[in-house]
Amino acid sequence: MKTKAFRMYETGGPSVLKWETVEVPEPGKGEVLLRHKVIGLNLADTYRRRGIYKVPLPNGMGNEAVGVVEAIGPGVRGVKVGDRFGYVGGMALEAYSEVRTAPVASLIPIPDAINDRTAAAALLKGITAQYLLRDAYRVRKGDAILVHAAAGGVGSIMCQWANSLGATVIGVVSSEEKAKFAKRNGCHHPIVTRKAQFAKKVREITGGEGAHVVYDSVGKLTWDESLASVRRRGTLISFGSASGEPPKVDIAATGAMGSPFMARCALVNYTVTRKELLARARDLFQTIESGAVKIRVNQRYALKDARKAQRDMEARRTTGSTVLIP
Ligand SMILES: NC(=O)c1ccc[n+]([C@@H]2O[C@H](COP(=O)([O-])OP(=O)(O)OC[C@H]3O[C@@H](n4cnc5c(N)ncnc54)[C@H](OP(=O)(O)O)[C@@H]3O)[C@@H](O)[C@H]2O)c1
Repeated sequence: MKTKAFRMYETGGPSVLKWETVEVPEPGKGEVLLRHKVIGLNLADTYRRRGIYKVPLPNGMGNEAVGVVEAIGPGVRGVKVGDRFGYVGGMALEAYSEVRTAPVASLIPIPDAINDRTAAAALLKGITAQYLLRDAYRVRKGDAILVHAAAGGVGSIMCQWANSLGATVIGVVSSEEKAKFAKRNGCHHPIVTRKAQFAKKVREITGGEGAHVVYDSVGKLTWDESLASVRRRGTLISFGSASGEPPKVDIAATGAMGSPFMARCALVNYTVTRKELLARARDLFQTIESGAVKIRVNQRYALKDARKAQRDMEARRTTGSTVLIP
């Protein structure tokens, strides 16, 4: 069968994404044919498009979506036509398409209480928030935490979740409007800056001590101030490169900076087995169902307008999550 899908033959601006009619193979062993209902947009899609995250070319785009099973390949048990699944990575980049084949071993069943739009907007960003707050550093009641891009997709989930855990949530945003949005999502202290000047305010808010943990998704521009915002023996987590990769770390020099623990965290290292992936997804779904976290889907585009969606996200015009509708 044929489908409409985005293809990328070279890296560059949004125009390298080509909207094409492509052949979808029959589902192979252990695979199903999945018709997408809603697709999640992530800033990392733009890193791959620009070549910051290397992917083989030509390629498709996107690694987060929700869909229903339309056909079943050989050897697949316990799945029927019409079943609803979501996914985050774990397979070829084909989310920006109407229909795809997908290995059943990578699919996540979606509870009835979670609709397609919420699931597609929440899965990748929410599982990321889950592992960052519950595992990479385990946030406890009374901790002061610093979240970058606090009004964004991952950021708005992290602020709500950390607030519900009893943390004091400090967030960095680039405008007053985003500060209001972050505040509505549980960020106690939004700091507005476009020049990455926030360490002094973080020290003021934390009585001079600094944050227990800093979650830095911006990278190059914010790294030094992030380092200056962590308390003695605190934790600094890099998990994104919105402004470019963070600088190389002089580990010996960090002794004079309070000996912080540092890591570059990646979703793939926190969803290693299917059991781990499903456990994190379950925690996310339960947190959404409890009302502690609301998934803010603030932008919706037709799938064929994905280039515009990416442009808007890169220009920092989006807040909360963004979805594409096939
Ligand atoms: N490591 C992982 O496992 C993992 C998984 C998922 C996502 N991530 C990372 O988490 C971050 C958030 O992802 P998301 O998809 O939810 O995106 P998002 O936060 O909705 O959008 C990106 C935001 O980053 C901020 N930003 C700061 N400097 C920027 C710049 N130079 N260019 C563009 N944006 C800039 C902007 O907020 P302001 O205007 O308020 O500054 C912008 O709205 C990304 O860095 C992504 O790579 C990491």
